[in-house]
Amino acid sequence: MTRTPRPDEATPGQPDVGPDAAIEAWAGCKSVSSEWLLSYDGYDPVTEGLRESLCTVGNGYWATRGAAAEADADAAHYPGTYLAGVYNRARTGRAWHSVEDEHMVNAPNWLPLWFRLADGNWFHPGTANFLHYRQELDLRRGVLTRVVRFRDPAGRTTKVTSLRFLSHAAPHIAVLSTTFEAEDWSGPITVRSAINGQVTNRNVAADRSLTGSHLLPRRVGELDGETVLLDMETTQSGIRVATGARTRVFAGDSPLTPDRQFLCDSAGWVAQEFTMDVEQGHPIRVEKTAAVYTSRDRAIASPAQAVTSALHRVGNAEGLLDAHEQRWNILWESFAVSLDSGKRQSLALNLNTFHVLQTLAAADVDLDAGVPARGLHGEGYRGHVFWDELFVYPMLTLRRPDLSRALLGYRYRRLNEARAAALAAGFEGAMFPWQSAIDGQEQTPTELFNPYNDKWMPDNSQRQRHVGLAIAYSVWHHYQATGDIAFLIHQGAELIFEVSRFFASLCRYDSRDDRYDIEGVMGPDEFHDGYPGSPGLGLRNNTYTNVMTAWVLRRAVEISGLLENRYCEPLRTRLNLGPDEIQRWKHISRRLRVAFHPDGVPSQFEGYENLPEFDWSGYRAKYGSIGRLDLILAAEGDSTNNYRLSKQADVLMLLYLFSAEELRNLLHEMDYRLPPEAIVRTVDFYGSRSTHGSTLSNVVHSWVEARRDRERSWTFLTQALESDLADIQGGTTREGIHLGAMAGSIDMVIRCYTGLEIRDNILRIHPVLPAQLTGISFSINYREQPIRIDITNTSVRLALRDSDTGPVNLIIEGLSATLAPGQTRTFTLGRPQQRRLPDDGTAHSKGVGL
Ligand code: BGC
Repeated sequence: MTRTPRPDEATPGQPDVGPDAAIEAWAGCKSVSSEWLLSYDGYDPVTEGLRESLCTVGNGYWATRGAAAEADADAAHYPGTYLAGVYNRARTGRAWHSVEDEHMVNAPNWLPLWFRLADGNWFHPGTANFLHYRQELDLRRGVLTRVVRFRDPAGRTTKVTSLRFLSHAAPHIAVLSTTFEAEDWSGPITVRSAINGQVTNRNVAADRSLTGSHLLPRRVGELDGETVLLDMETTQSGIRVATGARTRVFAGDSPLTPDRQFLCDSAGWVAQEFTMDVEQGHPIRVEKTAAVYTSRDRAIASPAQAVTSALHRVGNAEGLLDAHEQRWNILWESFAVSLDSGKRQSLALNLNTFHVLQTLAAADVDLDAGVPARGLHGEGYRGHVFWDELFVYPMLTLRRPDLSRALLGYRYRRLNEARAAALAAGFEGAMFPWQSAIDGQEQTPTELFNPYNDKWMPDNSQRQRHVGLAIAYSVWHHYQATGDIAFLIHQGAELIFEVSRFFASLCRYDSRDDRYDIEGVMGPDEFHDGYPGSPGLGLRNNTYTNVMTAWVLRRAVEISGLLENRYCEPLRTRLNLGPDEIQRWKHISRRLRVAFHPDGVPSQFEGYENLPEFDWSGYRAKYGSIGRLDLILAAEGDSTNNYRLSKQADVLMLLYLFSAEELRNLLHEMDYRLPPEAIVRTVDFYGSRSTHGSTLSNVVHSWVEARRDRERSWTFLTQALESDLADIQGGTTREGIHLGAMAGSIDMVIRCYTGLEIRDNILRIHPVLPAQLTGISFSINYREQPIRIDITNTSVRLALRDSDTGPVNLIIEGLSATLAPGQTRTFTLGRPQQRRLPDDGTAHSKGVGL
């Protein structure tokens, strides 16, 4: 039963849809039945791509979109499977030149389980006559189920129930269990269980003109009577990807042994086909268990060999499911956040946590993979790794610091590549790429497709050197949160030193003013890649870059002192870091230039204040959604470089990463003033000139407003929470989730509204909840000490689990206390209105903590 889209439905090109409207526009599906269940009633080809992304199941090693097992890629369906860190380069010839791009590879599809009744056609969701259709993603258990009842042209009614998961306990294993029930007939059902390696990268509309083939077949075959194998290799990176599938058939608990036919296509497709006689009212279950290994995996002889052994040893679906659910239980014990606000927010929060963990919480595998901006859920941004990890680490580190440390390892291993990039560009130290993939070379495409005029336009976003600063910031805060000095000595310090070296070498000294300038860069706001008339040449003295550089250099100096009396000879020898260089860093950190508007507002970059204002109302009236003004204006022959506007927070990022007090002190050290009134003016100035064209922007603005305008902060937070659930950009979620916004929205709740920070070995809490939120409960793992935290408007309750760690020093809203393991204590808070906000209203408690 397909349906015609309603007029109010979210369609691509209509962003800025408010969350509730957008949710209602979900093509005939009810999304919220409980805060742990994402469910859809009815089949809808129009929103199938969005559902597939949101119903992705994965375990950090790999993930599979929630596509129907009976569908190949077509206008409605896109069955993508992605393996963390598996990329391949491909060249595309264009009329005038050719381009080479690196993509996260769409791996062989292990799902296909086709069926047909008697002599009917293969079942396909697009043509079936559904009597019932319900899909549910159970976030607690990490299980996707679908129940359909349909009537075929011969009048037979059949129920098909399927359940799938990618095991968190056995990370190379996936299960699809499908039960067929003939309700009012008896007869044969033919099943074809396949692995399809004839897949290409075709998920992103704008990238469809690029070469999408990344895999070549190496071997197809049967491993035994019930198991098939497809061994493939990526065309350029030479990664072997072996996929195997074992298919068993059961009536109740009894195995059935239908005759099987082995089918294959040497171009990369392998299947078994068999026919089962189904009796009315007697269900038959087909259990497909898949395994994947690649040549990037450790401790294996070969991927094909590893798949073979895994499938010979693996138990049944029931046992696998039990173990998988147990792992999710353990994860939720650490990561669940309970909100007293509404089911809708709770569902969004749980969904976001679920997808962050599905992308990054790889259990029991030693991976070399970064934080892909769009998860393992689609091919948006080609699976590349940006600066978004800055938004992701805090919610991980507070619970599972081992996860963020492993992800920082991805950066550490690419330090040499970043050094080579700096050298090639005429600089010192390490220049990390704006977009990173397999080896850490710059992967930012040079061109961006503009759907407003169907043309490719230059993409200069690789001038966002600030990505290195985000890495250094994350390294320092990982150390602050964990106190892990070994991490600092063996990886962290080297990362911070080399990033510092790069930025120091980027600085040009102006002896007249005794100031340092940084030129030719872009800030986080991608709408300005140069001055009017000079697109792509970068900007002078981007405030975010310069202030962050000053902060990182200060940390580098601090770390060199911290490590002075430690055994760090290998590091010292490797880096050849002497006192003169440290002295220079100190000087630069005090003398970097920051431009200000005449009223004391830090200028996004030198000259920003000279740009004319933009016609906001005119463009809103003309285009409705103006999130991507860069594309709109380019199609009109104009440029966002010409106006005072931004895609996302840029100067305001500083108030996201630092408390107002810290920022003021930092600027003070640089001989600048930022009085409280100027902070208020800064928030107002930039707040009213942003299109929030990046989902990250809602997180930042929510944070910045949290102690100033709680109502506004909450509105931004709901937008951030719903980035993907409501597909607020009107169609981008089908190309992958927005991992930074998902993680950032969780972090908003657990750190910003609670005022939780870790500084000077003290755990501080200073909550200010928005009116819509009456309570928050969650757990953290503070230096190996699990702590349960319950916060309301009137109290903070801390319960320390019994452990043999030492006592924890706390400051709860200004009151110092010490709690020993096993102790519980409730602190009473003053009434909210009695809790004075700082003058500038923005002195939130981020900063030195995480
Ligand atoms: C944003 C970047 C972000 C990237 C990946 C872009 O739209 O402007 O800040 O890193 O998306 O999420």
